[in-house]
Amino acid sequence: MSNHRLTQLQPYPFERLRDLHKDWQHHGDLAHIPLSLGEPKHPPPRFVVEALANVDALTQQLGIYPATKGNDDLRLAISEWLERRFAIRVDPDQQILPVYGTREALFAVAQALLSGKPGSLVGMPNPFYQIYEGAALLAGASPLYIANLEENDYQADFAAVTDAQWQAIEMVYVCSPGNPTGQIMSETDMEELIALAHRHDFTVVSDECYSELYYDDKNIPSSLLAVAQRVSQRMGKRPFERCLSFHSLSKRSNLPGLRSGFVAGDPELVRQYLSYRTYHGCAMSAHHQHASALAWRDETHVIENRLLYRDKFAAVGDILAPHYDLRQPQGGFYHWLRTPIDDLSFSQRLLQEQHVTVMPGTFLGRDTATNELAGGNPGQGHVRVAWVAAKEDCLVAAQRLADFAINLSADGGR
Ligand SMILES: Cc1ncc(COP(=O)(O)O)c(C=O)c1O
Repeated sequence: MSNHRLTQLQPYPFERLRDLHKDWQHHGDLAHIPLSLGEPKHPPPRFVVEALANVDALTQQLGIYPATKGNDDLRLAISEWLERRFAIRVDPDQQILPVYGTREALFAVAQALLSGKPGSLVGMPNPFYQIYEGAALLAGASPLYIANLEENDYQADFAAVTDAQWQAIEMVYVCSPGNPTGQIMSETDMEELIALAHRHDFTVVSDECYSELYYDDKNIPSSLLAVAQRVSQRMGKRPFERCLSFHSLSKRSNLPGLRSGFVAGDPELVRQYLSYRTYHGCAMSAHHQHASALAWRDETHVIENRLLYRDKFAAVGDILAPHYDLRQPQGGFYHWLRTPIDDLSFSQRLLQEQHVTVMPGTFLGRDTATNELAGGNPGQGHVRVAWVAAKEDCLVAAQRLADFAINLSADGGR
């Protein structure tokens, strides 16, 4: 006997990519440039590294069993950051939990909060960060893929969801800025979703791990909690009722290896989630909590990081724009690039000819023909290009992408 739900899991996109590229190796002398993985490569803040390397503090911290709820100082640092950044008043005692990065937390929240009732649905964007789907399936729910199509400005098309589907939905994942589309969800759309959550009794899980990487100071990502705060006050509801936001130091502070983030929002959901996590056994170690508090309290390195991405996107954009139907993302660090040929062949040939790896959109989306929403896989015809490496490497890779497009049009896109 084993958990039959494991068989429902899809192969992870990187596994599918390895398979796709099996017979398409590059035989020339170009060095490989991977643009498929969104692993931040800018340097982490020095003061965080120094705090982690402090031997006296570490000796003391390693002798502590940390509490799942986290320590007061970290929760306070997070609540102060939320107030500075989004003008949200979050009670650090009841409405915040530190997590080991948003990946595990976005997965575990489904295990903690979904009922497991047959027929229950979890809404998610399509294409999407793959954890949402695995979380829904392993919690006994079915994913409802809500297309983010180009004609809808790559925003999730909630209008396509039927009343019967809303009734069956227990949780909706949203991601803003989105991976892979780079689109920011507007406060108006967030407010409509919260209204739907109240009408149909579901939880909104907002993945905001890219919130600090944006490209236009007039279009800064908001937080679901900023909107929920106003809705709750206006409607006389519990603070942030039905809403949870997830944040991370991985992209904001270039600390993907620290595994540090938090969830904040509805105190009733946080209470249930904490009780799940106590058994799950995922308390953040004391030295990581201390280093995390330092990172949340500093904004200088975040501003510098954002400028590095802006500079890089401007530079690679200049190289790519003459050759691709290029759209600048509103946030995050990906181009969601329209491909002149199908995305799978594009990715194979790009590897073989230019030794550059990108992620085909097909692997990040699902074919929705079977769930009565917009047919087809909305990831098709796109590749996700992660501009995480140092600028010099990104410039070389952008030039190779440009050369590739020139060669493609020379041979008629065959
Ligand atoms: C949309 C999205 N959410 C969550 C994560 C997880 O990030 P972490 O666990 O490092 O916080 C990622 C990582 O790539 C992501 O792209």
